[in-house]
Amino acid sequence: MQGLFGAYRVILAPMAGVSDIAFRAVCREQGADLTFTEMVSAKGLSYANEKTRHLLDLADGEVRVGVQLFGHEPQTMASQAAWIEQELGDALAYIDINMGCPARKIVSKGDGSALMKDPALAASIVASVKNATTCKVTAKFRRGWSVGSETAPEFAKRLEQAGADAVTVHGRFAEQLYRGSADWDVIARVKQAVSIPVVGNGDIRSGAAALDMHKRTGCDAVMIARGAQGNPWIFSQAKAALDGMPEPSAPTVRDRIAMARRHALLLQEREGRNIVRMRKHAMWYVAGLPGASKARGLFNYCETFEDFERVFKMLEDAKPGQI
Ligand SMILES: Cc1cc2nc3c(=O)[nH]c(=O)nc-3n(C[C@H](O)[C@H](O)[C@H](O)COP(=O)(O)O)c2cc1C
Repeated sequence: MQGLFGAYRVILAPMAGVSDIAFRAVCREQGADLTFTEMVSAKGLSYANEKTRHLLDLADGEVRVGVQLFGHEPQTMASQAAWIEQELGDALAYIDINMGCPARKIVSKGDGSALMKDPALAASIVASVKNATTCKVTAKFRRGWSVGSETAPEFAKRLEQAGADAVTVHGRFAEQLYRGSADWDVIARVKQAVSIPVVGNGDIRSGAAALDMHKRTGCDAVMIARGAQGNPWIFSQAKAALDGMPEPSAPTVRDRIAMARRHALLLQEREGRNIVRMRKHAMWYVAGLPGASKARGLFNYCETFEDFERVFKMLEDAKPGQI
């Protein structure tokens, strides 16, 4: 696999509410070639909204970061993309435009996957952002809007003509939300339709699945979202599989708790009181471990690193069958 832009083979997907500084750090340590910030609203940035800007804060020395913008006004998207490029400098890998989010509060404003219903507007956004920036510009979208009506290959062509440097395809229709399974064949059809790189996304839960997607679709890179939640090891597993090497052994219970602890520490250092965000990450790290259901209940009340640490210790010290 060549990798997107010759550099990125395994990519952590943008995930609103999940892909913060700490999560990006642990995924990179485990081999993610590129990580994304949470999606940012072009409109919010244009109002200099502090909460929106905070989403773009990077760790010291953090590089190879993708930023995903959402919105539907070509001029606002263009001006904010230019601002991001200037702010992030060399740390910015590329700017992606969200054309796949199916959440009601996003599509009701004409953003996210609603753009798949208006390819002309989508193309005009890509052209405007390209015009305003010097970085690579990509778009991430789904198989189509309505279940059964696959528009992704045509849509991709349209965006390629507008100047997109690459596209990412998640093989579900917007109307499906996250139901059913992702169709990987659409990724192959998009790959056939365009000559720009194509990133494949959807339902990669193991290193073997990453290789399988690459073989079936010819995609230039794979992007992983839910498979990385509580499981940053998936990136080293995917890389090994893509390189034809044996996959590193699965993390032990101790490894998982140690990673959760490290993640919580990073969040505390970088986000301060925002460590309550750790609750969902902690639940993902311990899912399936002995005592996980008791831990889940306790995590819900954690507000500081020390609160999380007490639960981690409980899990570590537990004898089989004790909790
Ligand atoms: C919690 C969560 C937040 C997400 N936020 C975004 C987002 O901000 N932008 C985006 O393009 N996709 C977002 N997605 C979709 C993922 O990037 C990805 O396309 C989708 O989950 C399919 O990949 P997966 O099967 O590896 O999870 C989100 C998904 C989840 C589960």
